[in-house]
Amino acid sequence: MRTQKIVLLDGTGAGDDDLLPVLDILMDELHRSGATIQTFPLRGLTLGSCIGCFGCWIKTPGICVEPDAGRKIAQAIVQSDMTILFTPVTFGGYSSAIKNIQERFIPLALPDFEMYHGEVHHQPRYARHSRLVSIGVQRQSNDAAANLFKLLVGRNALNFHASSYAAEVVVNTATPEHLHQQLHTALVRHDTLPTSQVAKSLLSATTASSKSVAVMDGPGRALLIIGSPKVKTPSNSGILGSYVLEQLQQRGWTTESLTLRGNLLRGEGQTELLAAVDRADLMLLAFPLYIDSLPFLMMKFLEAIAPHLLTHSQERPKRLAAITNNGFPEAHHNAPALAICQQFAADTGMVWLGGLALGAGEVLIGGQPIVGAPQAERPPILHVIQALDIASATLAKGQTIPTEVNQLLAKTPIPLVPFGLWRWLFIRLAHQYWRQEAADNQVSEEALFAQPYAEV
Ligand SMILES: Cc1cc2nc3c(=O)[nH]c(=O)nc-3n(C[C@H](O)[C@H](O)[C@H](O)COP(=O)(O)O)c2cc1C
Repeated sequence: MRTQKIVLLDGTGAGDDDLLPVLDILMDELHRSGATIQTFPLRGLTLGSCIGCFGCWIKTPGICVEPDAGRKIAQAIVQSDMTILFTPVTFGGYSSAIKNIQERFIPLALPDFEMYHGEVHHQPRYARHSRLVSIGVQRQSNDAAANLFKLLVGRNALNFHASSYAAEVVVNTATPEHLHQQLHTALVRHDTLPTSQVAKSLLSATTASSKSVAVMDGPGRALLIIGSPKVKTPSNSGILGSYVLEQLQQRGWTTESLTLRGNLLRGEGQTELLAAVDRADLMLLAFPLYIDSLPFLMMKFLEAIAPHLLTHSQERPKRLAAITNNGFPEAHHNAPALAICQQFAADTGMVWLGGLALGAGEVLIGGQPIVGAPQAERPPILHVIQALDIASATLAKGQTIPTEVNQLLAKTPIPLVPFGLWRWLFIRLAHQYWRQEAADNQVSEEALFAQPYAEV
């Protein structure tokens, strides 16, 4: 019988040594199983981060354009039976180290879309799919964050067509016996995939706030943080966020805007970022959905500012809102990402004003301005403008974004066309789009389906 191959990605960071005894127990359990284990401690690797260029689909199909250890890890995963992600539960999501490597795995999918479990997902590139097991560690039990983590892992299992999955959250101060038992069970358990209904309910919960927020006594200062790593073309996140910022400015707000790609990865840039955060009354995060969550840069930013927010007491709590856009036509894919922002607000004492979720961002915004783009280049986005206007008006008063905004954003963009037909059109149009993009890079249709990491 073939020995089982397991790949373990250790996503702990420099300050997480207190979590390592849990990793030792997990390793102990794995060794007992007799499997071959390949471990990658991510903090010891210098890994480039995804810049959202899609080169891994249209230039070098199946291989990330960044020539570093990320390629070796992707290959190991393709050839494995089980992938284990070990991470501190970070605002209900993964650590930035796990996010960074996860985003390098999109070449394991094909650019083409299909319907899968009732929603649009990418088709898998390989016939064989690794089982996904994610182990999140908390220092203090937090059920809301643990449940969010489990949901996120389930959404990842769907997205990557995992053969099966399990998500477990443990507390690092639990007894070794208890940890052994929890981890042993997780390694063999088959969790149920979360339905789209669960994601939709979560999306409503990220706007419907039970707490009423006081109206601000006048215009304040808003900081837009753009988390898209795109460098070659204008990001949809930047366009959406800047539109809202302009609306705030027209209502007397002082505004400033920063891109994480330009600031976070430079030492002095981090100081500027923290100073800008300190100045703001309202922080607006605008980012693309990356693997069902916030992009690496945005997670790294939240990790960096959380201790700062907790140690620098503010005269009045800052407000937080977020705008996400994703590739698939359904907006509810964004729910875990917005819930992570909400959890971040709860963990750092910020006031959560809600999140906006837009599906099919590349088609509806397509790097073009919200107002004034040539009409022939994209479907009508009147509903998006309406939603942004309502959200801007409430944010200007410092109040919670109403739930109807996300209902508007989730609408079919083409009048009288039912959502199912819009989704079908989307899949067909994308099919042509990727072939054209590949041809522009001298890549044939056949080469799009390459399987560079398949075992021979
Ligand atoms: C690494 C990566 C991961 C992505 N993951 C998802 C995903 O899980 N679900 C989804 O619907 N779209 C996903 N997308 C698509 C982006 O969300 C989409 O392209 C978005 O419009 C980009 O926005 P931006 O221009 O603000 O960067 C992903 C794109 C990349 C590059």
